Amino acid sequence: MTTGSLLAADLVIAVLAAATWLGGGAAAAARRRPLAQGLAAVALLATLARAITVTALARAGWWFAAEKVLIAGPLSLAAVGVAGPRLLRAAGDIRAVVLPLLFAGYATTSALLVTVLHGYPASVGAGLLALAGVVAATVISGRALGARPSRTVSRVTVGVAVAALVTGTGLTVAPAASPAVPHDHVFPEARISDEPDRRFTLTAGTATVNADGRDVAAWAFNAQVPGPELTATVGDVLEVTLRNRDVGRGVTLHWHGYDVPNDQDGVPGVTQAAVRPGQEFVYRFRADQAGTYWYHTHSASDVGVRMGLYGVLVVRPGPVTGLDVTVPVHTLAGRPLPTPKLERVEPGVPVRLRLINTDSTTHRYALAGTAFHVAAIDGVDLRGPTPLVDTAVLIPAGGRYDLVFDAPANAVALFVDGRVTYSTGAVSTATGDWPVLDPLGYGASAPAPWSGFDKSFTLVLDRGLDLRSLLPRYAHTVNGAADPDIPPQVVRRGDVVLFTIVNRSQIVHPWHLHGHHVLVLARDGKPAAGGPLWLDSFDVRPGEVWQVAFRADNPGMWANHCHNLAHADAGMTLHLMYS
Ligand code: C2O
Ligand code: CU
Repeated sequence: MTTGSLLAADLVIAVLAAATWLGGGAAAAARRRPLAQGLAAVALLATLARAITVTALARAGWWFAAEKVLIAGPLSLAAVGVAGPRLLRAAGDIRAVVLPLLFAGYATTSALLVTVLHGYPASVGAGLLALAGVVAATVISGRALGARPSRTVSRVTVGVAVAALVTGTGLTVAPAASPAVPHDHVFPEARISDEPDRRFTLTAGTATVNADGRDVAAWAFNAQVPGPELTATVGDVLEVTLRNRDVGRGVTLHWHGYDVPNDQDGVPGVTQAAVRPGQEFVYRFRADQAGTYWYHTHSASDVGVRMGLYGVLVVRPGPVTGLDVTVPVHTLAGRPLPTPKLERVEPGVPVRLRLINTDSTTHRYALAGTAFHVAAIDGVDLRGPTPLVDTAVLIPAGGRYDLVFDAPANAVALFVDGRVTYSTGAVSTATGDWPVLDPLGYGASAPAPWSGFDKSFTLVLDRGLDLRSLLPRYAHTVNGAADPDIPPQVVRRGDVVLFTIVNRSQIVHPWHLHGHHVLVLARDGKPAAGGPLWLDSFDVRPGEVWQVAFRADNPGMWANHCHNLAHADAGMTLHLMYS
């Protein structure tokens, strides 16, 4: 069983336990003895079963189980200890077990809430709050049931609950140590002053575009979605003038995966101010990395990219040989945008398909009709890629794969999520059950360029209640906090930095660090065997643990976030900062 499915199973069992304890209490209160006993028996079993799932999770990694062991464990023990013996003794009046069953229900419910609302790291505050909730709910139920505990007992309990509530709230909600990101500092290596070789102007504006035969409202660069394809040859200096005609949320250009100097990175509030309607901003940088990249607005990026403010950036090592096309896949107004037509070329002509996922979720690509190899991922060439046949690839949000093949005599077709998006003729192949390429085992490996790490950081991805902003929200969190309260990761120039990224949530998080490519070292403890993978976007699936490393060689303040942009917007954004 994968850690992801263990996490899901544990959650289901926890819900079952809480619901059946509470249900048993309610049935006992209604004097439905057989029902109450049946539910209590299920509750008991479910609570004991959690001992198994939680142990397995703890073995997969403490991040997955900390609060379950430290908070849910004692609460569940109390539930079983209080309700179990009383159930066995309750031969006479079933109402005698109402309160013990309800207590067990409150204990397991509050343990569940700690996992769902707070998660990792387990804190004293969360434990105290959970305890306060159980005490308060039990006292109130006791009173409603007409139990008359002695005054001292009830005063002491209320006292304990109030104290736990107050300290717990303080400990849980207090702002993190060093949240704020300074906004106005300049790092060296500012924009280069060389004369540009390539000049582009991108004007952002509201527009109506045709998506799959229907006119839809969009935000577009130069009135087209995707925006103009920017191309350059390695060594060129690019100058891109960004204008905003009428996009009220502001616009910037972020060069996704392109490790530009910090002041060209296009993150509003961090590297520049958002470009407001009527304003402009000029980007200039040297195209020193060949490969497939893309650009997009980083102002209100979730809605901005979804509405169409993105385009392709391709830097070639030299003149194009053969057929070299970009295939950006995007969903606009809920419909897939048509991709360009693939021309049919003479057999034997080399073809490079640059697949780009500009959506916020993973896409599955299957190339039928030819053998191919994956020449590059995220703009970086792989070492010794081998030919693949009838194999699908999964591209994370923001990611790019370059597929290379020699044109066969027959037709080829590219399927995206099972649909032909791109073909040179009729191809009838079922690609649905093709195996999926695991890039961690593809290509020839190379020794890592470093032997040790100067800094290491762990990012535990989850969901949780964020009470720090005005309106409470169910945020996407990193180490239990949400943007802007996640402390920045501070490094020095030259440091070799290790990130351990843990997903303890139920959804995929495509991780994206600005300004650096990271080398994949291991996933779930297994070292990456293939081709060294230098990525800027990678899917961390539920239950997965990724270890990646990079050299801190690009000073500045860099966004580090989930590229499911809705998640980034809902808290899952932090910053890497050079001291
Ligand atoms: Cu393509 Cu900060 O993102
Ligand atoms: Cu995410």
